[in-house]
Amino acid sequence: MQIVDQQIFLEEVPVTQIAATYGTPTYVYEENRIRENFRRALRAFRKYYPDFRFFYAIKANNNLAIANILRQEGAGIDAASVNEILLAQKLGLGGNDVMFSGNFLSDDDIQQGLKSGVIFNLDDISLLPRVLRYGRPDLLAFRVNPGYGQSEVGDFVCNAGPGAKFGLHPDHVLDAYRQAKEAGVTRFGAHMMPGSCVRDPEYFRFITELVMDIIGKAAKELEINFEFVDLGGGLGIPYKHEDHVLDIEKAAELVAEVFKSKIAQYGMKPPQLMMEPARYFVGDAGYIVGTVHAIKDSYSRIIGTDVSMNTLARPAMYGSYHHIYVNGRENEERIPLGLCGQVCENTDYWVKDRPLPKGITLGDLIVIENAGAYGYSMSYQYNGRLRPAEVLVNGKEHYLIRERENIDDLVRNVFVPEHLRK
Ligand code: LLP
Repeated sequence: MQIVDQQIFLEEVPVTQIAATYGTPTYVYEENRIRENFRRALRAFRKYYPDFRFFYAIKANNNLAIANILRQEGAGIDAASVNEILLAQKLGLGGNDVMFSGNFLSDDDIQQGLKSGVIFNLDDISLLPRVLRYGRPDLLAFRVNPGYGQSEVGDFVCNAGPGAKFGLHPDHVLDAYRQAKEAGVTRFGAHMMPGSCVRDPEYFRFITELVMDIIGKAAKELEINFEFVDLGGGLGIPYKHEDHVLDIEKAAELVAEVFKSKIAQYGMKPPQLMMEPARYFVGDAGYIVGTVHAIKDSYSRIIGTDVSMNTLARPAMYGSYHHIYVNGRENEERIPLGLCGQVCENTDYWVKDRPLPKGITLGDLIVIENAGAYGYSMSYQYNGRLRPAEVLVNGKEHYLIRERENIDDLVRNVFVPEHLRK
């Protein structure tokens, strides 16, 4: 993003042009920012541990145009469901380029996952016999819950520790890999995903130490090699302007240091080090362009926009902060104002007392920051407010990468029985 003479540009495309061409609300992604984010992180981790690879957790933003950018950069795909495996296949990825980290899988999920031939990452020991009933994955990992997790989004996305539904209890790790070995599995990996959005490098060192102490013992006792250890995602971004960025170099250095020392301590054959972030790659590369449609002076002044809780769920769901710019008014004096969307829920009054430009008025364009991860992919159709368009920008070029929904999308798959049509 750049602001020139108070006009906001995403890469080199003015937001006025986005609004005029595609309407609002519209998600806009900066291609070069995604590439820079990916390359910065990869450079850092490969510097300290050359046998390093990223998988992209496609749940955060599953637009195939976005995922293809990351595929071009060399990322594999972390799939949370069979449909995400199918999305990866649409990118031309399968086999050991895709990791299936499903949660509480059905037998159908298991069978389809096996058929696809991707890396199987099991969330619990109880899944193993169910998987083995249908086949034997070539490469098998368990998702370990190392007993600790952390998240700046809040407890909502703290994915490990006693309160989390995810992962294998550390006491079951030895048995899990033993049973897999006895069943004839020959290739192993290990995985964890203890938290999302963390900007403290020390956290990444700490969780690496935790998981390595758990799986190092298993490697030694069962005499198995781990081909990879996947530390999950979690690389954080600042949502508030006063917050610092994650020192990715430091995180990589600390992780590699403890990883190597634990490999030595347990006499392990050095595994590939993997991570599967999403927010760090796409979060700050995505924006929502919206329009001010109504202003109300009631108990206080409320600015009504077309960016509702169904467009961006995070503020209503987690109380998350997203910075808001107003095109053409960034140099204006600010006063505390409220801002809301158009949905009939008061959680849609998602900004209260935010310093916003005093002169904000009907027709102004707003730009919401850090909407690239868990934005569109968590949007929905409540109140008949349909999902927005998605646009990719690269320099002066802009491309529609997903159409705005219309009434057909609202009634798709709906059937009205004959007796209700009279
Ligand atoms: N791997 C697994 C198994 C995951 O469950 C997730 C995210 C990731 C990787 C990527 O995590 P990241 O690098 O983005 O932290 N909806 C919430 C975030 C939920 C995270 C879910 N899992 C939000 O809007 O903040």
